Amino acid sequence: MTYQSGYGFPAEVLGDAARMQRLFDNKWFFVGMRADVARPRDYFKFKLFDEEYFLVHGQEGQIKCYVNRCAHQSARLVNAETGRCAARIICPNHQWAFDVNDGSLAHASQMPDDFVKNCPEGELSLTSIVVREVSSMLFACLGDDSDHGEMDRMENLITPYTDPFAKAGHGFKQAYHSREIINANWLLVMINNRECCHCDMNHKGLVKLFDPSSFNGDMTPEYKAMIEQAQSRWDAKGLHWKEMPFAPDENFRIARYPMAEGFKSITFDGELASQKLIGPFENGEPDEGTLSLWLNPNCWVHFTSDHIATNWVLPLGQDRCALYTSWIVHEDAVENTHYDKDHMTEVWNVTNAEDVGLCKSMSEGAKSRHYKPGPFSQNERFCTQFCDWYMENSV
Ligand code: FES
Ligand SMILES: [Fe+2]
Repeated sequence: MTYQSGYGFPAEVLGDAARMQRLFDNKWFFVGMRADVARPRDYFKFKLFDEEYFLVHGQEGQIKCYVNRCAHQSARLVNAETGRCAARIICPNHQWAFDVNDGSLAHASQMPDDFVKNCPEGELSLTSIVVREVSSMLFACLGDDSDHGEMDRMENLITPYTDPFAKAGHGFKQAYHSREIINANWLLVMINNRECCHCDMNHKGLVKLFDPSSFNGDMTPEYKAMIEQAQSRWDAKGLHWKEMPFAPDENFRIARYPMAEGFKSITFDGELASQKLIGPFENGEPDEGTLSLWLNPNCWVHFTSDHIATNWVLPLGQDRCALYTSWIVHEDAVENTHYDKDHMTEVWNVTNAEDVGLCKSMSEGAKSRHYKPGPFSQNERFCTQFCDWYMENSV
């Protein structure tokens, strides 16, 4: 069966892990935020199929990404999911030491004195992956020939919305992080994220945070009035709100939404998740709204007055992927003084668990010998956009 726009993926596409790999070989993808590696020498490991990589914060502030393999005999360099390197990255095998800033070999323990000098230049360096930073969000590209033009365009369009968070007078820190291996097809996880038709019935907690109109697509007069009121408020504060939906050839959607009345943050009780406000709200009042960003191929990020929640997914195999979630707060926010772990993380922990159940179910269904892709409605137009975009960019 061949792919047809407006329908889900045929089984052949869902099962084509090599095609997924081709996409990631050629497109920029989200790998977290600067706050995930906030201090020099902090590292953060992630995995794409069988390959491990890690981000590391260099001594001069630059964020680097290396393949998690030693240039000597390919031993794993960092073992923990997150941590802090020594002054250099030391391989546990023969203790070769690599410079955090550029991956070059600084010292080859156990080797003759002239060994480093006699090796061809570059042969002893770690393999690095190109990283770009947009409003503190980090993107990696595996391809040698990374298309900066596409990133330049996205950066120009989204930074008026996102830079006020990144360029405020403070840094951020990761308050919490979770990573979960999901036994589901990565493509189906992304499709699940791109529609809200399942939300009413499956996210009974999350939907209370928003007017139902923002989920089902039908604009009630009450919601229209609510949006217009919020937009006047945002205009007065100089906050960009105009939605840029996924255009057919675009890899992102950004929108500012009002939350339900009385909700100041993405928490089940509507109270602030952190008492230290961030970005454009730092020295003012919290706003009853969220700035949300969805990016192809692999993430969704929500900015509220007090924290940033990032969710991103990478395939590990045909029916296995990893979901990474971080909660980012003001660098001066203190746990149990300004924020509480359970209160802050509850919405996404609960919502993601609900989605994981659905994604597993869909993945099992796609294995059925009776499986055939179903049609998407207008309310699922971002699923169609994702599928079309994937097919075009993974050849
Ligand atoms: S494998 Fe890393 S130092 Fe030998
Ligand atoms: Fe969902």
